[in-house]
Amino acid sequence: MSGTADKTFYLETFGCQMNVHDSEKVIGTLLQQGYRQVQTVDEAGLILYNTCSIRDKAEQKVFNRLNDYKKLRKQGKKFGVLGCVAQQEGDRIFEKAPHVDLVCGSASYRNLPQMLVQLETVQTGAGNRLTGLDDRQTDLCFETEYTARTNPHRGYITIIEGCDKFCAYCVVPFTRGKERSRTSGSVLAEARQLADLGYTEIQLLGQNVNSYRDPDEKMTFAELLAAVAEVRGMHRVRFTTSHPRDFGRDIVDVIDAIPALCDHVHLPVQSGSTRVLDAMQRLYTRDEYLERIAWIHSAKRDISITTDLIVGFPGETEREFEQTLSLLDEVGYDSAFTFKYSPRPNTPALKLDDAIPDEEKARRLALLNERQRQISARRNRRHLGEIVEAMVEGKNEARGQWIGRTSQIKVLNFTAPEGMQLKAASYVQVQVTNSFPNSLGGELKSTNIESSEQRVIQSSNQSFND
Ligand code: 5AD
Ligand code: SF4
Repeated sequence: MSGTADKTFYLETFGCQMNVHDSEKVIGTLLQQGYRQVQTVDEAGLILYNTCSIRDKAEQKVFNRLNDYKKLRKQGKKFGVLGCVAQQEGDRIFEKAPHVDLVCGSASYRNLPQMLVQLETVQTGAGNRLTGLDDRQTDLCFETEYTARTNPHRGYITIIEGCDKFCAYCVVPFTRGKERSRTSGSVLAEARQLADLGYTEIQLLGQNVNSYRDPDEKMTFAELLAAVAEVRGMHRVRFTTSHPRDFGRDIVDVIDAIPALCDHVHLPVQSGSTRVLDAMQRLYTRDEYLERIAWIHSAKRDISITTDLIVGFPGETEREFEQTLSLLDEVGYDSAFTFKYSPRPNTPALKLDDAIPDEEKARRLALLNERQRQISARRNRRHLGEIVEAMVEGKNEARGQWIGRTSQIKVLNFTAPEGMQLKAASYVQVQVTNSFPNSLGGELKSTNIESSEQRVIQSSNQSFND
């Protein structure tokens, strides 16, 4: 077992961007406590899983992983389960995976430093287990003195935690506690800190990011978006996830007004049927959702729209499912994340009969995916011939292609003259020459687009192909 001299940890993250960012904060906390991060379980004294319980499959993955490595316990390694499964299952984790030493839910991370100290002093084994689980009462956000930024091009900032919406299928209000916003002052301070670190892209995070309520009552969500986008050096600002009920027209107006706000909105609809939406307790009708889409469509900028959809919610009829299909056509999503309904512990929908057989859910899912694939292909074709700005995110050496990301959050793989080195996280102009359902292809036109003033330059007079 690693002694205090060399405290090592391995951390694997499952689930959403909130979890990815929580892990950055957990890593920061561990580094400050004198731990060293390692890349394999073999090298680690402490093995941590930051878990997701949004669907049953995600939860099973965690227990499979714990099972795979339980033999390492004999080598004196300690195991910790963090995140949503930890919060949901609590002490039951020790029954399912007796080799676990630490269980800490996402609402209790601020207690992590003390728990780590305790963990070092206890012997591994039954009776010495540590549990950090908050109920929904906490008013505190998880803010750390030091956050390990693991994404080299995108800096994440949590602006609101938890959820009070209680959609009938969703476990989040039970795993992440009640809704609580950070002050606009502390959000802006973190944005400036990220700018100082050299980040030019920021993503504001929250389960319902647009339900943001400044505790100091200084700013609305749209005003906060504007303020973050105006931080010196900021070139791209994203936000996710938005809830349709709280999606105001002012958000579209501010995207239209400020070029550094990305032209993309993720607006999960879940179903195209008002009856199903009501059963899901989503707090809006199909028409109300479409009204918000109309605001986005009427923007001056070409804003891409993406969504989340669930098929096979209890009681969903074939006709209601077809309403979801027709909604896809009506909105014209750029892409969609689609899921089969999965019953979750504690949720109101558990009381409903999950009578739609899995094969039927799978059939609906396949139909939905096929319809969306066609729409995505069509939506991507419209970019053919355009010159668009991309942030350089990496290179696929095998294919000799650079990997870029457009403001609309599309992957744009592009070629550049041989031998040319592009800086990671720099901005380039790329001509789109190919389009696929899930990505675009293109050729580099010019580099050195550093500031938001320059981002409007569309001319290709510096083209390398000239
Ligand atoms: N079953 C299936 N999908 C779910 N989601 C959330 N809960 C469930 C569930 N119980 C989906 C929703 C949500 C996305 C993050 O996961 O579409 O927007
Ligand atoms: Fe879950 Fe609904 Fe809250 Fe989103 S708004 S986290 S789907 S309960």
